[in-house]
Amino acid sequence: MRSVNPDSPPGPAGPLTPRPDVLVIGGGVIGLVTAWRAAQRGLRTEVVDPAPGGGAAQVAAGMLAPVTELHYGEEALLALNLASARRYPGFVRELEEAAGLETGYRACGTLAVALDADDREHLRELHAFQQRCGLESQWLNGRECRRLEPMLAPSVRGGLRVDGDHQVDPRRLAAALLAACERAGVAFRRASAARLSVSGDRATGVVLADGTELSADRTVLAAGPDSGRLDGIPAELLPPVRPVKGQVLRLRVPGAYAPFLSRTVRAVVRGGHLYLVPRTNGELVVGATSEELGWDSTVTAGGVYELLRDAHELIPGITELPLTETGAGLRPASPDNAPLLGPTELAGLIAATGHHRNGVLLAPVTGDLLGELLATGDLPEQARPFTPRRFGAAASEEHLR
Ligand code: GLY
Repeated sequence: MRSVNPDSPPGPAGPLTPRPDVLVIGGGVIGLVTAWRAAQRGLRTEVVDPAPGGGAAQVAAGMLAPVTELHYGEEALLALNLASARRYPGFVRELEEAAGLETGYRACGTLAVALDADDREHLRELHAFQQRCGLESQWLNGRECRRLEPMLAPSVRGGLRVDGDHQVDPRRLAAALLAACERAGVAFRRASAARLSVSGDRATGVVLADGTELSADRTVLAAGPDSGRLDGIPAELLPPVRPVKGQVLRLRVPGAYAPFLSRTVRAVVRGGHLYLVPRTNGELVVGATSEELGWDSTVTAGGVYELLRDAHELIPGITELPLTETGAGLRPASPDNAPLLGPTELAGLIAATGHHRNGVLLAPVTGDLLGELLATGDLPEQARPFTPRRFGAAASEEHLR
């Protein structure tokens, strides 16, 4: 086993740096935004990831949809989602400036539509729930939906117009975060974290797959679904994060068809959720399955078929478009679908994981909350409902009392 020595020459795993203040395990959108904010606060920060900017960011559609993705029982999460959506315009301005790259942020709004009577009932209930939560959405009949989006099938029976749910391009967002991190002095260790190092009752860093040992004052666990299975974390403290597979298609809208869709279109089709996210560069992202299949991330004929079948029912003209890409990613899901943010019960280990369907949406607020925690040691009030300790042994005892 090798220890990091600031005087050593660069190793195969990347340039060596003085002992960082913060080690971030995972270079997805959440790990990168955390590292960027930490570095901006003057902390020596290092990210451990074999391919930073990869992972779910390369698959996700990038909907910023707190209103149309509202679910019963997730009111606390709604508040965090809305807070992050409000930060997006300022966040992308700052990030694009810092990185010198664009993120593809588009304030285009969303239309959620229903195809049959059951779907319409589902949307009506969602609309009532949105109104109880004080959210802005407007009920439209089928004709009004088609006036907004003429490519919709004549069978569309109604829908919800939500002008505040927007989109960003996760691939460009990840590239911009990577560049901003590099410019802010974040060091990258392009290697896999094999296990967390624990000394006594404290996390002290990570051991890489090649045996290299890295130590830091604080370690941030931002490894997406892998956060729930990292060796070295005592079993009873492992965050309850599991993979939920999502298959996604990418199509291309040739110039002649533009604009195919002018905003994000979502639908419930026979109980399944479908979305189509049109980018200004002609890309059309169609998603997504939601499959509890453990670590399986294969693209299946069945997954592609179901997405295309439902998309065709919603927008018949879709079959004319070139299919350019298929992909599958793993969402890091927690038992209550909300993220785990803040100190864990293991001193020195901080969680920024479990963002499930909302990793891209929650990037700005996660970066701000984690940056504040890492710089000051205080967990901001807004993060308290999302403490990882809500799932710990102490929380279970409290619950039983
Ligand atoms: N937020 C979209 C998805 O998880 O598929």
